[in-house]
Amino acid sequence: MVIIISDPKPYTVIKRNRGEKGLLIKKIPATKDMLEFGQLIGNNLRPGHLIYLVGRLGAGKTTLVQGIAQGLEVKGYITSPSFTLVKEYQGRIPLYHMDVYRLDDPEEFLDLGFDEYIHGDGAAVIEWADRIEHIIMEEFLRIEFIVDANDVRILHMKVEGKEHLELVKELKKNACFGGG
Ligand SMILES: Nc1ncnc2c1ncn2[C@@H]1O[C@H](COP(=O)(O)OP(=O)(O)O)[C@@H](O)[C@H]1O
Ligand SMILES: [Mg+2]
Repeated sequence: MVIIISDPKPYTVIKRNRGEKGLLIKKIPATKDMLEFGQLIGNNLRPGHLIYLVGRLGAGKTTLVQGIAQGLEVKGYITSPSFTLVKEYQGRIPLYHMDVYRLDDPEEFLDLGFDEYIHGDGAAVIEWADRIEHIIMEEFLRIEFIVDANDVRILHMKVEGKEHLELVKELKKNACFGGG
């Protein structure tokens, strides 16, 4: 299902490219489906891709990143970088896994130079991205996790920018997207 939305945001935008906007919705019934969807993303990630993950504790953000790492052929197990803020993994391309939950001040993200990862040679995935997305807005795939009464995860995905739209096109080609 594709719904085109126009979504003016009250953010302080420091970087922004005009891109295409759309919202996709996908249901994820179980953990294995989250891993599978992550793998599909990982299979298609390219350097410069940036994924924002937004959702409450236990929503499945780290689980999705574990799938992404599998898709990128990262060896070993992915754990949450809550205390270190960023972890780097070597796969088909580098994976920068960030968790900005503990940032006291979102501006720290820039002060600590984390924006460098976003323009690096790998792909970056940021948990709790809603804490920083008002300062970093350019091209991205934003995935918001909603947990329904049956524990089913509903992903709301929004994409901005040509490179990320290409990523979404690849995802949509896959049968894994079939269930809507
Ligand atoms: N449909 C689902 N998708 C993802 N995780 C699920 C799902 N159903 C149950 N879970 C469980 O919920 C937990 C999610 O934890 P985690 O991925 O660490 O969340 P977060 O990083 O958002 O805090 C895991 O224990 C996972 O097995
Ligand atoms: Mg997590």
